[in-house]
Amino acid sequence: MTAMKYLIYVSQAVHPMRQEELADILQHSRKWNTQHGVTGVLIYRYLPDEKRGNFLQLIEGDETVIDRCWERIAADERHHTKVVLETGATDVRMFPDWSMGFRNIEHDELSRFEGYTDLGSQDFWDRAQTGSLPEALELMKSFYTDD
Ligand SMILES: Cc1cc2nc3c(=O)[nH]c(=O)nc-3n(C[C@H](O)[C@H](O)[C@H](O)COP(=O)(O)O)c2cc1C
Repeated sequence: MTAMKYLIYVSQAVHPMRQEELADILQHSRKWNTQHGVTGVLIYRYLPDEKRGNFLQLIEGDETVIDRCWERIAADERHHTKVVLETGATDVRMFPDWSMGFRNIEHDELSRFEGYTDLGSQDFWDRAQTGSLPEALELMKSFYTDD
């Protein structure tokens, strides 16, 4: 068995995403992920004050596949300012049933997670770009349900 890894990143949408645009990203992602054994979760958050959409995503799978998947994601011009927050090895999938889970979240859903409550604000992005955000793994896992 080859080693598995996960990768978590944040990015900014080029413009606030319409439902159809999010659905298109998910459809393409789920197709490729299913074919290549990638699982994970994508979080989208729009901040009205900044008029900006933000992505937070975790992908997991075979090491080489995750590198390829990240290349696909990084090459996509629907978002920019991509900052990898964390990568690591994993023996067991954290999102076994999700080719790509999706949540469009509100402010208060992140209130438990220090460093992420203001996800998308300028202050958040300053912290992200100086590498001073706390780990996001528990936050990502908190969205997973297997029913
Ligand atoms: C926020 C975001 C998340 C993405 N997540 C994935 C993903 O999980 N898996 C994937 O293969 N591509 C992902 N992509 C990339 C695109 O969906 C994909 O490269 C694009 O639709 C082109 O796909 P195609 O070459 O199969 O047509 C993502 C793109 C964006 C903007």
